This record gives sequence, C-alpha cells and structure tokens, in this order.
Amino acid sequence: MEIETRSEGAIETACDALIVPVSGRSGVEAVGGLASDLAPEVRDAVAALVRAARFAGKPGSVLSLTTLGRLPAGRLVLAGIGEADGLTDDGIARGYGAAAREAREAGAREVVAVAPPALGGDAVSTLAAAVTGVRLGLYEFTAYHGSARQEENGPKEIERLVFVGEDLDPAAIARGEAVAKAVSLARDLVNEPASTLTPAALADRALEVAEREGLEIEILDEAALADLGANAILAVGAGSSHPPRLIRLRYRPDGAAAEPERVVGIVGKAITFDTGGYSIKTYEGMLQMKGDMAGGAATLAVMSVLRRLGCPVAVDATICAAENMISGDAFRPGDVIRGMNGVTMEILSTDAEGRLVLADGLVDAARRGATELIDLATLTGAIVVALGDGTTGLFASDDRLANDLLAAASGAGERFWRMPLFAELNEKIKGDIGDIKNSGGRAGGSITAALFLQHFSEGLPWAHLDIAGSARTDRTGPLGPKGGSGVPVRTLLQYLLAGTASA
Ligand code: BES
Ligand code: MN
Ligand code: ZN
Repeated sequence: MEIETRSEGAIETACDALIVPVSGRSGVEAVGGLASDLAPEVRDAVAALVRAARFAGKPGSVLSLTTLGRLPAGRLVLAGIGEADGLTDDGIARGYGAAAREAREAGAREVVAVAPPALGGDAVSTLAAAVTGVRLGLYEFTAYHGSARQEENGPKEIERLVFVGEDLDPAAIARGEAVAKAVSLARDLVNEPASTLTPAALADRALEVAEREGLEIEILDEAALADLGANAILAVGAGSSHPPRLIRLRYRPDGAAAEPERVVGIVGKAITFDTGGYSIKTYEGMLQMKGDMAGGAATLAVMSVLRRLGCPVAVDATICAAENMISGDAFRPGDVIRGMNGVTMEILSTDAEGRLVLADGLVDAARRGATELIDLATLTGAIVVALGDGTTGLFASDDRLANDLLAAASGAGERFWRMPLFAELNEKIKGDIGDIKNSGGRAGGSITAALFLQHFSEGLPWAHLDIAGSARTDRTGPLGPKGGSGVPVRTLLQYLLAGTASA
C-alpha cells in the first residue's frame, strides 16, 4: 500500500472509502473543525449520522456507512479519535488504525483520509501518529498462509491511501512509516516459529538490518562466548543443537564524538524457545514460548530505525540469543555459573534462564561503555499475575530514567507501571553455595527476578522492562491482530528521540 498526501479535495475524490476523524457526540462541532475540507451539507449530514448512531468517537471505535451514491466515496468510515479537548497521538493512531482495518475489511482498494488535526500546533506528530496507526492496524503476519488463505485474503488489500489536508509535511509520513516499520519487525520476529528463528538465524537478521541501516555489528559465536567468559549464555544454550549467539549492535549519530558523553545500552533477552529445560514447563506453559525472544526482537527493531529517525543519542545494543532445551549437554538444577563480573549464580530452576543470559548481556554492555542500561525481557509469569495482560512492569534503580521511560510510554500509548525493588527481598535469592540463586520462589517473583539482574548492572543507572504480559496479545485491536505486539518499541523510540523534532 502506498501512502500519499494531497492538499485538497477529500470530498470530491472518487474512492472506495473516505476516512473522517470524529471526536464523537460531545464534539460533533469538532467534525467541522477537524474536517475543514468537508462541505457544510456533508458536515451536517455526518453530524446527524454521528448523533443518530450515538457514536461516541472513542479512540479506536469506527462507524462505517455506505454513502448510497450521495458522495463520490462509496463508503464513509468515521474514525473515533477521542474527546476533542483530550486528543492524544495514541488516540489518533488507534482511530486511523481501526478505520483502515474497517476499510480493508469492506474491500476498499482506494482510500482517502481527512488528515488529523494538529495537537498544540504540532501537525507533524499527529500525522505521523495517523500513519503509524494505519500501518499497524493493517499489519498481518502472512509468511505461513497457505494458498487457500492467500486467495481468500488477496483481494482485500488497500492499494493506496491518500491523506488530505493543508500543508501536510512529507517528513511526518516518513516518521510514521519508520516507527511502524520497527514495530512490524518486532512483531514479525515474535510471530516467527522457533524452528526457523534459531539464535544464528536471529543473528543473520540482525546482520541484514545492520548493513542496510548503517549500524556496526559484531556476532559472537560459541567460541567467542567462551573467550569472553559468557558462561551463563553458554549454560542456557548448552542443551540445544542450535548454539547461542551474542549480538552487539552499535549506533552513533552522524558527526558524533568518538567517545560520546551519553551511551544508552539496551540489552534484550532472546530465548528463541523456552521449554524450561530440565525444570520443564507444562503443555500450557510452553505454548507461547517461541515469543520468548521478544526483548531481543524489540532491541533489534529499535536499532533498525535510529538513523532514519535522526536519533541524537548513541546507542549500544546487546541481544542475548539462546534456546533453552533438554539434552545430555543441558545445564541442570544445582549447577553453579560464574558470571562475567565474578558473581556466581546457583541454579535452582533451569526455567529461570532469562535472568542468566541477561546477566552476561548487562555486564557486556557496561564494559562496552554504556552510561545507562535498559534491559527488555519476557522475564516472569509473575508480572502477568501482578499487572494483568498488556502492561509492562518497569523496575529501575534511577528515578530520572524511570520517569523519562514512564513519560515516553504514556506518549507512545504503551501501558507501563513502575514496580518496586525492595532490597530486603535480596534475602530470598541469597545463594547456599553460590552468591545468588536464580529463583526466589513464587512470592514477589517479578521483583526477585529484577533484583537478580541488578547484581549485574555494574552500578549504572539501570531499568528493567518485564514484557512477559505485553509483548504479545491474544486480542485483535485497532493497532493490529493477535500475536506479537511490538511492545516496547514505540516507548523506546520516544525515549531516545525525546527533545528532537522527531519525538
Ligand atoms: N519465559 C518465561 C517467562 C514468561 C512466562 C514469559 C509467561 C511469557 C509468558 C521465563 O523464562 C520463566 O520461565 N520464568 C519463570 C521463573 C521461575 C522459574 C522463577 C516463571 O515465570 O515461572
Ligand atoms: Mn523460562
Ligand atoms: Zn524464558
């Protein structure tokens, strides 16, 4: 699908569907304000329809109507974007996402959309949000659709979507596209089966991205990991015939100093499949475990668009890729692993493997020169029990970092909730023969997991995002189908771009 812009003629253009943003009943007048392009009689008709259908214009809700030939457009799709006095980029993204899905479902091929209103004078950010919303709303993972399904879906594809409004900035389109591209990459990787997305295959994907997007990359194989002393990643991957990889990516802004003052280190958990190892999971528990590499996927996705978006901050990424399987070589409960910083880890559960690979990744990122660390991981079932589906648990040793991440999440429309790091709970992970145990039991399970990681944060400002409940969704929504969600890509992009024209 092509996305284009035009300065006028939304109503006059013949098309299959016309998308009009609507702020709902309480803001019927806003239809006029938002859609300045609409002729008065059309505006009145839309307002009457909105009232008659009691359409509240909630973000992500749509009202789809045939025009019975009274407009050049065959169908009118009203996109709810939220209350007129409380508009957000996220509400706009959801509205256009849902409307685009609805138009595609109705078989539309040529679509015209009235551009969203400017928010606080910023028309670039709302148009970018609308573009991201459309792309994410239309996202599908079709790599494994058989021929029957392809034929069934084939005709349902929007060919062109034209945003109509005055002085629409092409840079907004490019920005919206880049954000959606990153989120879609993270979704694709999460949705890909573990049989094809092995640690080495993930490293290959990272190599392609790095070459295309102007990033430096280093891929460490088993031998290099042994030289480095990355014993934890090696232990977790030992039971698999697909050996582990540590992927280092490096982004420096154009014209950056050789030794930048600030380097954000992002560390992603990429367990390409988590059986639990000898502490084996149940049937139910194993079902979604091809997605246990979502932290690494989001890390690669974020890195993939930093140059296009003109990110002003240096970023070093570390992706810890391994498969947690069973064999005669697999690690066992009772084993002790010496971490790269000398801290020894006593294995209680081979299913608490994420914190082990991150232990090596965090120390590696710190050694490479990060000045702050953010790790992303589908780390604990306990965070899902605590916060429910769809919310990311944020743990941080540093309030500045925590608050900036929370602000970025709220701007990006991803739900985050800060969790405590009660130091007393370190008692629960005190080791018997090693320094720390890799499981602190059920109570406070996501907190003890975070405290474990803190032992490898090397005194740097550090944040840990537990995305076990948010990296995938079971429900189709305005911003896409069930499966990989791409969380927390949008938040991290917002965080890294804060203070720039792109944020
Ligand atoms: N990958 C899982 C966590 C997970 C659970 C992610 C559900 C997504 C959905 C992780 O490796 C794990 O198994 N954690 C254990 C830790 C326990 C053994 C201390 C858990 O949460 O049960
Ligand atoms: Mn596990
Ligand atoms: Zn896991």
